[in-house]
Amino acid sequence: MKNYLSLFSGVVIAFMMMVCQCEVANAAASDNKTLIVYYSYTNNTEQIVDDLKTLVKADVIEVEPVNKSLDYAANGYAIGTEQLNKIKANPNDESSYPAIDPVTVDMTKYNTVIIATPLWWSQMASNMQTFLFKYGKEMVGKNIGLIVSSHSSGISGVEADAKRLVPNGKFFAKSLWINASKHSQRKALLEQWLKDINYNENANGNTMKLQVNNSTLKVKLADNAATKALLERLKEGAITYNAHDYGGFEKVGALGFSLPSNDTFITTEAGDIMLYTSNQLCIFFDSNSWDYTPIGKIEGMTKQQLKDAFGTGEVSITLSLDNSAGITSVTVNQAKATGIYTLTGQKVSEIPEKGIYIENGVKKVRK
Ligand SMILES: Cc1cc2nc3c(=O)[nH]c(=O)nc-3n(C[C@H](O)[C@H](O)[C@H](O)COP(=O)(O)O)c2cc1C
Repeated sequence: MKNYLSLFSGVVIAFMMMVCQCEVANAAASDNKTLIVYYSYTNNTEQIVDDLKTLVKADVIEVEPVNKSLDYAANGYAIGTEQLNKIKANPNDESSYPAIDPVTVDMTKYNTVIIATPLWWSQMASNMQTFLFKYGKEMVGKNIGLIVSSHSSGISGVEADAKRLVPNGKFFAKSLWINASKHSQRKALLEQWLKDINYNENANGNTMKLQVNNSTLKVKLADNAATKALLERLKEGAITYNAHDYGGFEKVGALGFSLPSNDTFITTEAGDIMLYTSNQLCIFFDSNSWDYTPIGKIEGMTKQQLKDAFGTGEVSITLSLDNSAGITSVTVNQAKATGIYTLTGQKVSEIPEKGIYIENGVKKVRK
């Protein structure tokens, strides 16, 4: 039995049945977004990006040269050759790079940038180089993915260009090369590549999903040995366990296995998820001080919203990997969702004074 420092007297909380199934918008969505930037002359890269867009949630920018009438394939690809030679001769001079249409991009919104480009003479196509010359320095510390389309040449030269132009990017360990003979398999290759680079974990800053009653909540995970071990387990499949009320401030339940713990004395806040005695998870609606190992936090929910979502008594909780690739929108079960809801799926009687809410399944904003 836990020897808590404080115990709340029994609080009876009416469990409101939530009638919509919501995915909680990631409170830090702006920090976890992905940008896909691509250039394509004969549409192969564009087709790759079209498939990529079905696999990851991302903003997309197409780079276009100011001069759209150039025939890069004419005279043995002479124009491409000339442009690339100019860059090579003076790579630090902006005037070496062909002009592209202006692009408005706020790089601070993204933690991951996927660059998709054709290969030209074993180098990165010149127009994509222009974009990266302008914006590559703003990609410091971001995850960088590189996808290269070529007829048959290998892509080490393009990788070198990318690293020169994005000097402090955190490049994924593997680039994706799709040559002409594999172009028709591009979707399967993209899927495999996203798995290989652990896209979901890296791009989402380590999150997991927690399902309880009718709610699917997003948990931002702490970075420690316990969460690493938990993620490894979740890769093998979802984990379901039962949890019960304790002290009026938490739901606690045994996972059925142990995780590596490194307990310290912590005062919890609503939404905190803590590992207790290596094998139990405590989900806090309120504050308590004890020795725990942090697992993560359900973000953006108030005490009351958490209590409503978890209800009273024994509940079944399912943890799973978050494959949503940076949720920036809310999905609502349209069939059932009449009324007004907060982003976290709580039904409310009135439209909130300020902020985002969902009315009859439609996302709205009150400013
Ligand atoms: C100027 C130029 C140079 C190229 N050089 C090469 C090359 O050296 N090796 C190669 O395998 N493909 C080369 N290609 C072919 C492109 O890499 C390939 O067709 C790619 O799929 C084009 O992508 P896109 O359709 O998105 O423009 C070149 C194409 C152009 C236009």
